[in-house]
Amino acid sequence: MFKKIKKSISRDYIKEIDEENIPRHVAIIMDGNGRWARKRNLPRIAGHKAGVEALRDIIKSSSNIGIQYLTLYAFSTENWNRPEEEVNGLMDLLVLYLRKEIKELHKNNVRINTIGDINRLPMKTINEIEKAILMTKGNTGLTVNIALNYGAKAEILNAVKNICKKVGENTLTIDDIDEKAFSQYLYTDTIPDPDLLIRTSGEQRISNFLLWQIAYSELWFTEVYWPDFKPDHLFEAIIEFGQRQRRFGGL
Ligand code: IPE
Ligand code: IPE
Ligand code: MG
Repeated sequence: MFKKIKKSISRDYIKEIDEENIPRHVAIIMDGNGRWARKRNLPRIAGHKAGVEALRDIIKSSSNIGIQYLTLYAFSTENWNRPEEEVNGLMDLLVLYLRKEIKELHKNNVRINTIGDINRLPMKTINEIEKAILMTKGNTGLTVNIALNYGAKAEILNAVKNICKKVGENTLTIDDIDEKAFSQYLYTDTIPDPDLLIRTSGEQRISNFLLWQIAYSELWFTEVYWPDFKPDHLFEAIIEFGQRQRRFGGL
C-alpha cells in the first residue's frame, strides 16, 4: 500500500520518457470496459461510455509526445457475437464520439483512419466515419487508426484473395509476393508495424489483433481496466519500451 502511494506522488512519468526512443506506432487493445462497469454495478454500456471518455486524454498525450500512429482496437470481428443491444450501443457510441470530438481532433492536426471491414457497420456509423476521414485527411499530426470490425485472420485472408485474383489476371507473378508486397494488401498498407502493443484489463492474449504486423512488437500488459487507463499508464509503458532491447533476431 505504502509503496503504491509513494509511487504515485513521487513519479513524474512524462519526465522519464526518453525523447529519442518514442515508439513511432503504438497499438492498444482497449479491454475491460465491461468489468469496469460490473465493479460499479453499472450496465456494460456504461463501461463503454467511460472507455470512450478515456480516449480523449490518451489521444492528446500520444500526440504531445510525438507518437505518429495510434491504432485502437474498438470492435473485433468476434464482437458481433455479443448481445445485439451491446453491439448497437457500441455503434451508437462511436457515432456520438465522432460527432462530439471531431472538431477538436481536427484542430489538433489528428488524422482519422480505420482498419477492418467497415462496410458491414450500420449506415450511420459508416457515414460518420467517412466524414471524419475526409475532414482530417490532410492533417499531418498523429494518425488515429481505429480498428472496427477488424480481425487479423480476416485481414490476411482478404489479402490472400486479392493477391490470387491478381495472379489469376496475370498482373502479379508468384515471385513478386514477398513480405513487403504482401503487407501492401493488408488494411495497414502504408502504416509501419506497431513498435509497442498495449493490452489493458489483465488479459494476456492477442484476440485476433494485427497478427502479421506485431511479429516484432514489444508487448506491454496492465491490470488496469481501459476506462481507468490514464496518460501516466501510457507513459509508463513507453518508459519501459525505451528500456527494452529490440534485437529483431540479431545479436
Ligand atoms: C473492451 O471491453 C471493449 C470492446 C471489446 C468493445 P470489454 O467489453 O471486452 O470488457 P470486458 O472484457 O468484458 O471487461
Ligand atoms: C478484444 O477484446 C477486442 C477489443 C478490445 C475491441 P475482447 O474482450 O473482445 O477479447 P476476448 O474475448 O477477451 O479475447
Ligand atoms: Mg473484453
